[in-house]
Amino acid sequence: MDKMTGKICIVTGSNSGIGKETVLALSKMDATIVMVVRDKTRGEKAQTEIIRQTGNKNIELMICDLSSMDSIRRFAEEFKKTYARLDVLINNAGAVFNKRQVTPEGFERTLAVDYLAPFLLTHELLGLLKSSAHSRIINVSSGLAKKGKIDLDDFQSVKNYSGMKVYSNVKLMLMMYTYELARRLEGTGVTANVLMPGFVATNLGKNSGSLRSSIMFRIVRPMQISAKKGAETSVYLASSEDIKAVSGKCFSKKKITTTCPESYEEKLQKLLWNKTRSLLDIVTQ
Ligand SMILES: NC(=O)c1ccc[n+]([C@@H]2O[C@H](COP(=O)([O-])OP(=O)(O)OC[C@H]3O[C@@H](n4cnc5c(N)ncnc54)[C@H](OP(=O)(O)O)[C@@H]3O)[C@@H](O)[C@H]2O)c1
Repeated sequence: MDKMTGKICIVTGSNSGIGKETVLALSKMDATIVMVVRDKTRGEKAQTEIIRQTGNKNIELMICDLSSMDSIRRFAEEFKKTYARLDVLINNAGAVFNKRQVTPEGFERTLAVDYLAPFLLTHELLGLLKSSAHSRIINVSSGLAKKGKIDLDDFQSVKNYSGMKVYSNVKLMLMMYTYELARRLEGTGVTANVLMPGFVATNLGKNSGSLRSSIMFRIVRPMQISAKKGAETSVYLASSEDIKAVSGKCFSKKKITTTCPESYEEKLQKLLWNKTRSLLDIVTQ
């Protein structure tokens, strides 16, 4: 097992599912981990369980609602005040919504949580990641990205909203963002990779608000792998010396895999990057 003593990691969405198992595995490797969660009670429950199971007391909890860009900016500031370095950032949190919702800041909620949040959080922490190099950015996408489409004219999915369709679209955006980011980070010692965890038995989709999808999730349960298994690629990307220099790739089952042709379109990656930057009022980068 690779040791991660002295390494500081952030794992978003780590009170349940893949994120929680990722923290559990990295805790066993002696990493220092900041669990980023939106609910203090759920977060503390997971944190206590992980510390009890692993004996690693360097597991901290910080609160951030990733659907709010304001909350992300505040969390990043607080993190930078508390920690002098950041070795691994795992953008793991994700959600799917049956009905279209708009956040108080005016963003469609799937776009906000699954795509804008990793983009902004990474941007806010990039200086620290660069000064801590070698460091790693890991984005959790999905196999459904291959069904995604990028429509820059309907970025907020106002027309024909469908939960799974929008989820596929934003997971494709996350993939394309990772490829573009990796190119921009060449020579900095910061790597950026994306992964597809597989079909995993977690809470995802359970709270999407539809009886149909919650029944569907119960039916497919036997086909799903465990959250522990689903976390293996995240843990591998965070800790393995073998892929230390690998960047701009997608991983599945701890191996590099190819993704859909659209994901590699550099012109579209750049258009997406610029569109996102202007939406988030990011002036640098
Ligand atoms: N399960 C699969 O088959 C599968 C397949 C492909 C990709 N993925 C991806 O894997 C990642 C982990 O999901 P999972 O399957 O482990 O599902 P999960 O058990 O539902 O975990 C998702 C995590 O994200 C957090 N989260 C959601 N909205 C948030 C917000 N606004 N602010 C902060 N945290 C928020 C959740 O917190 P709460 O508990 O507070 O909601 C939870 O901790 C996601 O990116 C998902 O898209 C999963």
